[in-house]
Formats: sequence, C-alpha cells, structure tokens
Amino acid sequence: MAKAVSELNASHIEELAKSFGEALRETPLIRSQSLEKRVQSKQALFLKAENLQFTGSFKARGALAKILEILKEAKEKGVITASAGNHAQGLAFHASRLGVSAKIVMPIGTPIVKMRATKQWGPEIILFGESYQEAYEEATRLAKESGRAYVHAFDDWTVMAGQGTIGVEILRQCPDVSSVFLPVGGGGLLAGVGSYLKAKNPKIKLIAVQAEGCSSLIPSLKKGSPVSLDKVNTIAEGMAVKRMGEKSFSICQSLVDETVIVSDEEISDALLWILENERLFVEGCGGATVAAAMKRSDLISGSSVILLSGGNLDVDLLARIIERGLAKQGRRTQFEVVIPDSPGSLEALLHVIAQEQASILQVHHERVFTKTALREVVTHIEIETSGLEHLQRVKASLEKTSWPVRFLP
Ligand SMILES: Cc1ncc(COP(=O)(O)O)c(C=O)c1O
Repeated sequence: MAKAVSELNASHIEELAKSFGEALRETPLIRSQSLEKRVQSKQALFLKAENLQFTGSFKARGALAKILEILKEAKEKGVITASAGNHAQGLAFHASRLGVSAKIVMPIGTPIVKMRATKQWGPEIILFGESYQEAYEEATRLAKESGRAYVHAFDDWTVMAGQGTIGVEILRQCPDVSSVFLPVGGGGLLAGVGSYLKAKNPKIKLIAVQAEGCSSLIPSLKKGSPVSLDKVNTIAEGMAVKRMGEKSFSICQSLVDETVIVSDEEISDALLWILENERLFVEGCGGATVAAAMKRSDLISGSSVILLSGGNLDVDLLARIIERGLAKQGRRTQFEVVIPDSPGSLEALLHVIAQEQASILQVHHERVFTKTALREVVTHIEIETSGLEHLQRVKASLEKTSWPVRFLP
C-alpha cells in the first residue's frame, strides 16, 4: 500500500499536465444552475465536461501519458491494448499522432460508435471475446507474442497519473471545490484524480459512482481487495468491468468517502436531462454521476464538481433513451379509441385532441385486424404534450366522450 501511494504523486501529475500542451484540451468547467435548481442545492454545482476532450473522453489523458513515457520503445515495437472503446480511441488517436503502430483488441459487441471512431485513427482492430476480461487475456497473449508494449486501460501508474491531470484542472478552475462525483470502472480515473485532489486538500470529499449492473466497488471495499463479478450489464459500458485493478483499487480504497449506486433507468433519465438542460451529449458513465448527484443531493457539501467522463454514446441508444424518456415524462403518449366507422367521426375525435392543444404525431385507422363491431374502427393515435399535467387534461377530455379509450403503456 505504501509503495502504491508513492507511485502516484501530485507533482508528477502536475508535470504531466504541463507536458501535454496542445495534445489535449483543458475541458470547461460549467456551472449548472439548472442542476442546482433540480436538486435544490444552495451550493454551486459544476460539470467538468470531459465529454468534450479529444476522442470524447478523459481516456485520452492516460493513454497520452503512457505513450510519452515509453515513446522510444513504442515507436520501435508498437503498442497494444484491450478496450471496449474509450481507452482504445484515446490510445489510437495519440499513437497515430506520434507515429506509433497500435493494435487494439475489442470485445465482440463493442458499441459501433466506439469501433468506428477508433478505426479512423488507423490501428489494427481485433474483435475477440464476450467481455473486456476475455479481450484483455487475448491482448496480453498477443503482447507477449509480438513484443508490443501493453498499455493497460486503468491498472497502470502512469495511465492513472494521466487521468489525474483532470484534478489539476478542477483545482485551478474551482479552487474551493469540496466534493467531486466520479464514475468508477477499473478504478484508474478515481485513483488518479482522487489522489491528486486529496494530496492538495484532504478535506475534498470523493464520491464514487457505479452502475447497478457492475457495482464491484462496495463488495471490494468490504473485502479489502478487488472482487470479481460473474457478469456485468449496464448502459454505462465504460464502467462494465468485472474486476477493479489491483493497483487502482489499492489507491481507491484509501480515497473513497462515499459510494452511490445508480440504475440504468436513473442513468437514462440523467442523460436526457443533461441533453435538454445543458445541451451536452454524454454517454452512460457521464450521466451516472449526474444521476448520483440527483439521487443523493445530501452528499453535496459546498461547491461540487460532477465529472461528465465521456460523450461516446451510440445514437441509436440515444434515440431510444429520448423516446422512452419522453414517454415516461408524459410528453409522448399512445392510445386507442374505438369510434363509429362513419363520416365525421375521426374529425370529431381529432377536434377533442386539438382543443386541448396537444400535437398529433401519428394516426392509424384499423378496420380489419380488430375484434370490434363491423361498423366501428380502432383509431391508434400518438400525441405530444408538454408533460403529465397537460396529458391529464387530454385524458379527461377524451374520457368525457362516449368512445372507449385505452391508453397504451
Ligand atoms: C467514459 C468513461 N467513464 C468512466 C470510466 C471508468 O474509468 P476507470 O476504468 O478508470 O474507472 C470509463 C472507462 O472506460 C469511461 O470510458
């Protein structure tokens, strides 16, 4: 443990931050008054927008730190890693800039957006295994066989120190920060950022956030060493790691003040909220921290920073999150009304909806595939309203008519 702590020190992290120069972005720290209002916080809340980092996540920091450390060897033999996406992109991006050959092993099922974004930087991509662990085993085997330098996604001191440079920016941008919400997968991010912040001000509270479908941190903290999960399943795939790193866990263990577990539904709600209220596009891990701040606003003490760790979200998944989120908020609704199959009936039904100022998105008339009487027709309608209250008014007006109405789930 003592050795572990000595491997991550604040001055090394500060030196790294300086050495990055233009190769990385200092990401903005955005005050979110909407979030303050939403969680009724009297404290200032800030979003650290690492989703705007080059390649769309903080992972480009650790990858750059490592390549710079081993640049000579990397240029001669190349680098290799296993990653489900963000680390792969960060490594491929900097390798291509610095003239280093890169090979990436990705688990089968890696989101298409991450695979395509990685490909553009020209690494060799191998799809292998069902999980990060299987891809990792294959990548370490290939590293031995080929002599390429293995760049671990989280369990490497230099990679962790690279992630820690976020801490340097946070302290510069918000000197009075008193709590920070961070997502945890393998633990490299929290180890790097947390050890820097605690070294500078041990009073800063670190709130570790995990998704329900991959929450190995709490049992690991209880046991005092990383525990392995049998399976992981979450929309925050950056966190979908079965086992935290030995080194990263040894650091996290001494740093974490609080833990918050959030469900995929809470993450989805937060993603939609961030998109609508902050106009920022973030992936599951990024939304998880906001979901945690919404769920446990009691943990907000003084100025707080919530890390939006990445923005590489599949647009298909985003589309589903938006549609379902709008339905949940009562802003999109489908229902069926049985009306007489006679001229003017449909017009009368649409008139009821129009009077309540709801917008009609779709209308479908069903005469054949239904068990209603021959002289009746089932009208399937989708409407847009401003929310639950507005929807209630539409429902009340429809229920006042003589037509049977059935709202769909
Ligand atoms: C966007 C994002 N957030 C958080 C994490 C978790 O980081 P760590 O594995 O260092 O704990 C990852 C890991 O890939 C990630 O891609």
